[in-house]
Amino acid sequence: MLPIFMENYFTYRNANVRFTTKGKGPLVVLLHGFLEDISIWNRVNKYLSSNYQVACLDLPGHGKTECMGYVHSMELMADVVLELMRQLNKRKCHLVGHSMGGYVALAFAEQYPDKVTSLTLACSNARADKSEKKQDRTRAIQLVKTKKELFVEQAIPILFNTAIKSNTRAINKVKEIAHNTSIQGTIAAIAGMRDRFEREIVLKFAPYPILIVAGEKDSIIPLDWLQEQALIAENCTLEIIPDIGHMPFYESPLLFESILKRFIDRV
Ligand code: MLT
Repeated sequence: MLPIFMENYFTYRNANVRFTTKGKGPLVVLLHGFLEDISIWNRVNKYLSSNYQVACLDLPGHGKTECMGYVHSMELMADVVLELMRQLNKRKCHLVGHSMGGYVALAFAEQYPDKVTSLTLACSNARADKSEKKQDRTRAIQLVKTKKELFVEQAIPILFNTAIKSNTRAINKVKEIAHNTSIQGTIAAIAGMRDRFEREIVLKFAPYPILIVAGEKDSIIPLDWLQEQALIAENCTLEIIPDIGHMPFYESPLLFESILKRFIDRV
């Protein structure tokens, strides 16, 4: 998919990292999820960039960012975000992460709390995987090694509330991005997610405001987990988007954009 914003690159650990930046004002960094790329933010980017400098980057092994090894830990990806901020000469940002992007945002917030103005977890959560989920991830890695196409065909539709017929176009769009993600990038991200640490403590002691956006019908990050985690953080707003799955920027774009902007404006 062609980016609609001008692309830039920097190098980190000998790998090219693609990013875009648009608008002027306080920095908002948007981090996509697993098997996604910067294009998932196209609408949100347009919407926010009239008031903010919005930066998006392809996380390692996704979109046009090259792989940095065989395991992309959340900490490694957080350091790529730090390098992005260095490139943009910014000391602080509003950090917004979708799902795996939220895990990266939490790793960043843990290491660099003074660089975070606000944290938004969109269909993402601070818990580590339970042992059953870790085993699923290890099995998924085996499947991706030989049958990545099948893995993608199975993994993408369940991100959406499939009862809603109009999601078909978005499902196909996300499948296209996912099919373009390399086998190494896919495996490195699955391994990184499997091995990630629990970070509820980051929510508990956050010195900045937190927004959690939940999809009522999300089958990846269930609503009740997010309701529980919203109680951990002192300064946390929970917004539940009715009738959507795991993909708020596609399944309910207008509501998602206005929730996000209202929160960031308020900070
Ligand atoms: C994502 O959408 O980024 C992933 O599905 C999250 C996960 O598998 O935990």
